Amino acid sequence: MPEHDPGHAAPAWLHDGTLPVEDEVLGLLKTGKEAEVFIVERRTLDGRRRALLVHKRYRPTKVKAKGELEALGFAKARTFANDHVYHEGRRYRRSREQRAVERMTDYGKRVLADRWPGQELETLERAFAAGATVPYPVAFTGDGMLMQLIGDETGAAPRLVNARLSPADVAAAYDQLLDELARLTRAGLVHADLSPFNVLWWEGRMWLIDFPQAVDLFTNPHGFDLLHHDVTTMCTWFARQGVATDPEEVFASLLADAW
Ligand SMILES: Nc1ncnc2c1ncn2[C@@H]1O[C@H](COP(=O)(O)OP(=O)(O)OP(=O)(O)O)[C@@H](O)[C@H]1O
Ligand SMILES: [Mg+2]
Repeated sequence: MPEHDPGHAAPAWLHDGTLPVEDEVLGLLKTGKEAEVFIVERRTLDGRRRALLVHKRYRPTKVKAKGELEALGFAKARTFANDHVYHEGRRYRRSREQRAVERMTDYGKRVLADRWPGQELETLERAFAAGATVPYPVAFTGDGMLMQLIGDETGAAPRLVNARLSPADVAAAYDQLLDELARLTRAGLVHADLSPFNVLWWEGRMWLIDFPQAVDLFTNPHGFDLLHHDVTTMCTWFARQGVATDPEEVFASLLADAW
């Protein structure tokens, strides 16, 4: 497999603190169920270096007063995804939290939701280190994280579903998919929400995004099922684009390889 494109690593000045930087929010890119995605320009104060980033911010779960989210710069209220499946097999700090998570009380839901931001960054770092084609992680921001914008000044990259690939692109993308899945599973990672909606298409490559619910293939009791689901979802889309694909075979070979 080819190594990372060296141009893809995060430039050091973005995160090593050696040069003073400022961030400017250029605009809201998307509001999702739990998070909002902003385009941010980070630049050195001397104006000589600049980079376009994405700030994915999870809406806080402890907000009580009306208008508080707006005051924090969010556009929409938060809805909660029933996510206990993804978190089984993880250990929680205190048994009170553990019990609350198991019973899915309001408090338990909040315990889970509060973990998304840190968890997503951690997973993105693992995926990046595994050589997967993902945005480079830049920093944790408390409510979320900063990462590479896939796209440029003219706009963010389209999602695979909107990207009008040529037949040659489709074939290349499918080969890349197998490669990306192999890199992730070898690192013991399952995306767990992989779909053409969470894959961007940019400069002739697929970029995997949206990792907060990722699980460990071997320690999560649902790891294999979630991988199977990811594989089936992606293969179904590629089959509709005319690719001859056998999801069961792909799944089996990924497992054999990861073992
Ligand atoms: N690094 C990035 N570069 C470019 N666009 C991005 C990036 N990260 C996210 N986006 C855009 O923001 C959208 C939402 O991001 P993401 O899928 O991570 O969040 P989400 O909360 O799951 O949203 P949704 O509920 O819409 O899936 C993506 O579909 C994509 O269009
Ligand atoms: Mg998404």
